[in-house]
Parts: sequence; structure tokens; C-alpha cells
Amino acid sequence: MKNKTIAYAPASIGNVSLGFDVLGAALEPVDGTALGDVVEVQQADAFALHVAGPFAHKLPADENTNIVTHCYEHFIEACVKYGHATHPLAMTLHKNLPIGSGLGSSASSIVAAFHALNAHFDSPFKQDELLHMMGELEGQISGSIHYDNVAPCYLGGMTLMTGQSSPVTVALPLMENWYWAICYSGISVSTSAARDILPKTVDLPDALTFGRQLGVFVHALYANNEQLAASVMQDVIAEPYRKSLLPGFDEARAYSMEHGALAFGISGSGPTVFAVCRDQAQAQHIAAWLDNNYKQNEDGFSHVCRIPQAGVQQQQG
Ligand code: HSE
Repeated sequence: MKNKTIAYAPASIGNVSLGFDVLGAALEPVDGTALGDVVEVQQADAFALHVAGPFAHKLPADENTNIVTHCYEHFIEACVKYGHATHPLAMTLHKNLPIGSGLGSSASSIVAAFHALNAHFDSPFKQDELLHMMGELEGQISGSIHYDNVAPCYLGGMTLMTGQSSPVTVALPLMENWYWAICYSGISVSTSAARDILPKTVDLPDALTFGRQLGVFVHALYANNEQLAASVMQDVIAEPYRKSLLPGFDEARAYSMEHGALAFGISGSGPTVFAVCRDQAQAQHIAAWLDNNYKQNEDGFSHVCRIPQAGVQQQQG
């Protein structure tokens, strides 16, 4: 048990266009920006949550409804259930990611919270046990349990969900030279609302396309075949419905593809979009255009990112 434990959890892209709810990737800006939430925990006489950071004011004022409070309650209940000793903690959430951005903002808070809690108590829970807790908490916010943000945020890289209880997720190889231009437009899209607008069933031709694309994509990553991988990065499940929520989406896609992007899509449930680029200069150019043209207000931003090997990271207290 430590005096103070601090965890940083990165932003992530859910779905990556072709893998609705089953594929996700962590994000790391190349300029060193810390694009992710930070949670600190420290022993205290009673539980308290302090919220700070650039997007703290967008969270509900009542800290009892904050997802980090729910993580704490869930974690302590699990400790009690399995006979692990606990004590009250004071927690601080540095809310660095915008809410409803499609960057895995809730997942980042959840992963940072669970990792800090587990590390503080000398790791009573294993990776998959924690992932189950993280998925459950993510489900409370978005209305359905999916791991495509919490898994890459926690473990890093690009991860594919197995649908098994263990392992929950497997790591995929990365295309070494891909750069990801991302742009958050500044508006907020609720994941649960963006899920509600989707049809409850998928037509047979779309189901066949989804399966073929995902299979070919995984093959192409292992074969290091960039063209083949990019050629199947299309979303037949959510994008046709969700793009109506995203002003300027079609123009942003058209510009990116005309200027050499290998693929373009919605990050998670949006409004953040991503363009997959072959090199950093191309990604810088597209990110700058998106910043000037896709951004809707001053809350928006763009970055050129890589997919980091590392997910959550413990920092010095
Ligand atoms: N797979 C989820 C969705 C990700 O698209 O609803 C949400 O960030």
C-alpha cells in the first residue's frame, strides 16, 4: 500500500470504423501532449473526490454521481467480497478529456481510477478482473457494456475484443508508419444517444461485409499489408446513421481522402474524426485542415497521434 498513487490513462479510438464495439486503439499525440485523464488516490479518514482540470466544469456538480465515485464504490465492494483489506481514500480526478468527444473520455477516467485503486492496494485484482469492472462501469454510462475504449486505454496498442471472459481482449500488430490525424469538433455527442439512433438489427449484406472486413483487416495487419488493411476500414454499422450528428463530416472525409489519407472515420461515437496517414507530414496537413474546417467551436482541437504500446501509466506521487 502506497501513500499516494497517480495513474494516467490515454484517449482512445473506439470501433476504428470497421470493428463496432470490438476494436479499439489507444492514442498518443506526437507533440507530447498528455491526452488523457489522471486520477490520484491517497489514504484519508473518509472518502472524498476532488475534480480539477480543463473539463472539470462540464461534469455534474454532485460528486456522488461522478463515475470515479462509482469506480471507488465498485472497487471497495469487490475488495470486501473477496476478503481484501481496504481503507477510505481521497481521490482527485484531473479531467483533461472533453466529455462526449468520442475520445473515450469516460473510459479514461474509469481506467485511471481502477488502476490507481488497484495499485494503491498492492494489486489485489488481475488484468481481466479489472477489465470486467471497467467494462461494467463503462456500461453504466453508455447504456451497454463494450470494451473497445477501456481495453486499449488500459493496455495500450490496438486491441480486439474476444467476447470471452478471459482473455477479454487480444493485442493486434500495428502498422509502424501510420500516423492518425484526429480532430475533436468541440460539440458533445452522448454515446448512449448515438447508440439509440442505431437500428436494432443489421441486414445480412452488412453483416457479411462486417465479418469479411474484420477478418481481412486482422490478416492484413499480420501480413503488414498496409493497402489491404486500409481498404477494409469502412463502417457499415454506425457511420451511416451517426454522421447526421456530425456537421461537416462528409466534407472532412472528402478532403482527407483527396489529400492522401488511407482511411477516414468516426472515433467511437463521435464527434471526433480520424484520418489514417502514411507519414507525419501528411497527417500534420490534414490535422491542420480539420482544425480550420471541421472544428465547430473553441473547445475543439486536433492532434497528430501514434498508437502507443503502453496504455495506463503510473506516475510519481
Ligand atoms: N463502440 C462504442 C460505440 C464506442 O460506438 O458506441 C463508444 O465510444
